[in-house]
Amino acid sequence: MAKLNVNGVIRDYEAEQDTPLLWVLREQLGLTGTKYGCGVAECGACTVLVNGVPTRSCVRSVSAFKVTDKIVTIEGLSPDGSHPVQKAWAALDVPQCGFCQSGMIMAAVALLNNKPKPSDADIDAAMTNICRCGTYNRVRSAIKVVADGGDASRAGIGIEHADGRTT
Ligand code: FES
Ligand code: FES
Repeated sequence: MAKLNVNGVIRDYEAEQDTPLLWVLREQLGLTGTKYGCGVAECGACTVLVNGVPTRSCVRSVSAFKVTDKIVTIEGLSPDGSHPVQKAWAALDVPQCGFCQSGMIMAAVALLNNKPKPSDADIDAAMTNICRCGTYNRVRSAIKVVADGGDASRAGIGIEHADGRTT
């Protein structure tokens, strides 16, 4: 049986060599936070980290990954949604339908790990994910909140939340 290192755990799987990593993650390992959008490496919904690099798992054959490759999915960021990027996303109500958002978050995590204080140009270059709900402005604001230390009240985008908060 073949093995993958996913979220710090060695997992067994059985699949044809050319099966995309995405389907092994979702269907065999039960990690359904990673989404299928386009299937052709365009939208980024299927983004996971492989050795820290954002990777579109819909177009990468599972056989390309060795057990020494560290794969991280949205489920592996934190046990309770407390990763700084997840917290900023929640504080700014970034998601709309949410479908693209795990991929967005994984791309943002990779960006902030590489560049803790990204410029707008850095964000433009790294965040190539597609969001049909148009959350791009809040994605950018949330990345800046994390870069500034996590204080969402400084985002200054005037969001009125359902619970009465304004950020
Ligand atoms: S589903 Fe992989 S990039 Fe769209
Ligand atoms: S939040 Fe709906 S597609 Fe991005």
